[in-house]
Amino acid sequence: MCGIFAYSGPNKKAGDIIISGLKKLEYRGYDSWGVAYCKDDKVDLMKKVGKIGEFNVKENPLPESTLAIGHSRWATHGGVTEANAHPHTDSEEKIAIVHNGIIENYRELKKELIEKGYEFKSETDTETIVHLLSDFCKTNDFITAAKLTLQKLKGRYAVLAIKCDEQKIVAARRGSPLIVGVGEKEYFVASDIPAFLEHTRKVMYIDDNEMVVVNDKPHFYELDTGKEVDKRVVEIDWEPESAEKGDFEHFMIKEIMEQKDTIYRAINQKDDEILRLAEEIKGAFGTTLIGCGTAAKVCHAASYIFSKVAKRHVNVVVGSEFPSYKDFLKEKSLVIAVSQSGETADTLEALEVAKEKGAKVLSIINVEGSTMDRMSDYAIHIKAGPEKAVASTKATTSQLAILTLLAYACNDELVEGKRLLIEAAGMINDMLNPRYEEHIQTLAEKIKDFESMYVIGKAVNYPMALEAAIKLQEVSYIHAEGFAGGELKHGPIALISEGTPCIALVANDETRTDVINNATEVKARGGYIIGVSPENDDIFDYWIKVPDGGNASPIINIIPVQLLAYKLAVLRQNNPDMPRNLAKSVTVK
Ligand code: AGP
Repeated sequence: MCGIFAYSGPNKKAGDIIISGLKKLEYRGYDSWGVAYCKDDKVDLMKKVGKIGEFNVKENPLPESTLAIGHSRWATHGGVTEANAHPHTDSEEKIAIVHNGIIENYRELKKELIEKGYEFKSETDTETIVHLLSDFCKTNDFITAAKLTLQKLKGRYAVLAIKCDEQKIVAARRGSPLIVGVGEKEYFVASDIPAFLEHTRKVMYIDDNEMVVVNDKPHFYELDTGKEVDKRVVEIDWEPESAEKGDFEHFMIKEIMEQKDTIYRAINQKDDEILRLAEEIKGAFGTTLIGCGTAAKVCHAASYIFSKVAKRHVNVVVGSEFPSYKDFLKEKSLVIAVSQSGETADTLEALEVAKEKGAKVLSIINVEGSTMDRMSDYAIHIKAGPEKAVASTKATTSQLAILTLLAYACNDELVEGKRLLIEAAGMINDMLNPRYEEHIQTLAEKIKDFESMYVIGKAVNYPMALEAAIKLQEVSYIHAEGFAGGELKHGPIALISEGTPCIALVANDETRTDVINNATEVKARGGYIIGVSPENDDIFDYWIKVPDGGNASPIINIIPVQLLAYKLAVLRQNNPDMPRNLAKSVTVK
């Protein structure tokens, strides 16, 4: 939620650099945006409501400056207005602040500041930080004032401040992502690497509860003690183009198509590492998979895969609910977190709880160096490359691939698992051709005006039905729900009326007959049956053929639904990359 970005260096186009970086972070929040840049020793501001992607920096270059910060907002406190858009400034207009996260004690702080005579121009929690900082600056130097301010804040946040009369950036994180980019005598601080990837691939990670001061070079400090900390510069291997749309109209379709390659990349792991982690799972006194949203559906699907392939029970709990389950955790418990971003607040909180109870943590994540990566005992990187569309696609299938591999490894069948997934990757490559896309486009045109649709599946395809529903909801805004096929007759079948589209995810296994029977019951009530299946059936009104991937069927079956959701979004004139009300990385609870 919210993208934040700062630049300090010799380039006099600091403001323009911020705007172009914010465009790369827009997937994190896109209801309003703003930039603050130093003009001599004062802050100048530009704030707008709407998407920064629509702003043309070439036609409207910002005045020269060498120090600037910016923000792309996903509103938490206060409506979507220019006044509430960040940055926020102090009354003397020397300090500007941007912030991602929530300051939980902002009401008390704001009350104290109002009593001292500070005037607030916005309804945000963030404005509290800038006035508090300005207040501490009256009796302290900027760095000490920043430390004192940060020590008073409660909640999860990443914050960036500039002070123009001192030409300094102060940045700090407590639970929300923030990374330093190291260029040639220039520095960047951002919520995510794509913001500065066109300038540098060298990064320095800011850990939780740390503050960094950038003037001549970055200096890192522990927030609580003020002690200076040494940091390494790490070179990351992302190509700048991997964070761009290229010839595709949207990131979502680019990322769907990338699944031709991303499964191979995901399973290209060191065998001894996968075997070692399989031993951890086998040796644990209980394993729990946790994730949120799509990642939770991946966990749910993995529980079926572990049962079938590894003959092993793994628990599944959604991240936000996990703290309420903590009492069964032991030191020998293993918690496996699944996350694209590695920054989802609910999952992070669950991991903190697990760690407090002494449990071991394995993360399956896409973003290397993310908070989850750094706080876990073990991590597997799915190597999907930047995923920028809000709707997860390639990360989902890569996470499923890794969990399938682990299940096979637990059954001493790593080679068989790899072979299955390599074959599945080949099948996806063959499937994702222009004719296939056209076939799905035709379906999307048929059903685009329906306001409700349903997805059913059984066994591992039940959580995939839930995931299919999330994809459809997120980008098409059609009311979509997923069900276990067998559950329909216990209530939801009452929702079916003439023509209601119902997608049936049908695997070529022992579940086929049951799902076909469930689809038949829907059809008998007027439903329009869309079969996603390797084989056709008379009951299908529209057949989307998928290759028979055996135990990799969930990975394959979800792809046509991703494509359908995308096509529906475009036909319904929604922006699939930035759906309303959502943000890519949910860093607030
Ligand atoms: C996926 O399409 C969603 N945007 C969302 O449910 C997402 O999967 C969830 O917020 C978890 O994100 P994470 O994988 O980065 O932890």
